[in-house]
Amino acid sequence: MTDADCIELAELDKKCFSVPWSKQSFLEETKNPLAIYLLAKDNGKILGYCGFWRVSGEAQVTNIAVLPEYRRKGIAKALAEEMLKICTDDEQIVLEVRKSNSAAISLYEQLGFIEAGVRKHFYHDPEEDGITMLRRKI
Ligand SMILES: CC(C)(COP(=O)(O)OP(=O)(O)OC[C@H]1O[C@@H](n2cnc3c(N)ncnc32)[C@H](O)[C@@H]1OP(=O)(O)O)[C@@H](O)C(=O)NCCC(=O)NCCS
Repeated sequence: MTDADCIELAELDKKCFSVPWSKQSFLEETKNPLAIYLLAKDNGKILGYCGFWRVSGEAQVTNIAVLPEYRRKGIAKALAEEMLKICTDDEQIVLEVRKSNSAAISLYEQLGFIEAGVRKHFYHDPEEDGITMLRRKI
């Protein structure tokens, strides 16, 4: 992810989330040594992305999103599989997902994530519980 990608990513986020990240939030991530962002591009256009932080032997997914008109083509799955390849064998991967987000939950289950707990009122706009999911490689 380069500085130039951040404007496009902020626009993509507006189409994907009720509380999107700003260009500034993405720019800060380009300077974060713990962050890895994988972008799916077609002829230079960003179709989706997956971001995660690697902290103390654990990977924390910050976001994964695909433009609405490019969904159900395997893009999120390909991005997440690439993330799994980057993480080491003993690295646990954790994420939060809105309880009602059945598309994302189904994606994560397909990749071997399991539900590990519920965080009450974790999300706002609209308020909703978050499901914590994790995947251990070994
Ligand atoms: C969740 C999201 C990233 C999936 O992206 P995608 O590129 O369409 O997903 P894929 O095509 O790779 O689908 C992989 C699997 O996810 C599941 N899935 C994806 N979309 C689904 C849907 N609308 N309904 C049910 N399952 C779905 C399926 O298991 C699918 O496998 P299948 O196509 O073999 O059935 C996308 O819907 C999105 O950007 N949503 C808004 C942002 C978001 O909620 N991100 C998650 C934050 S935790």
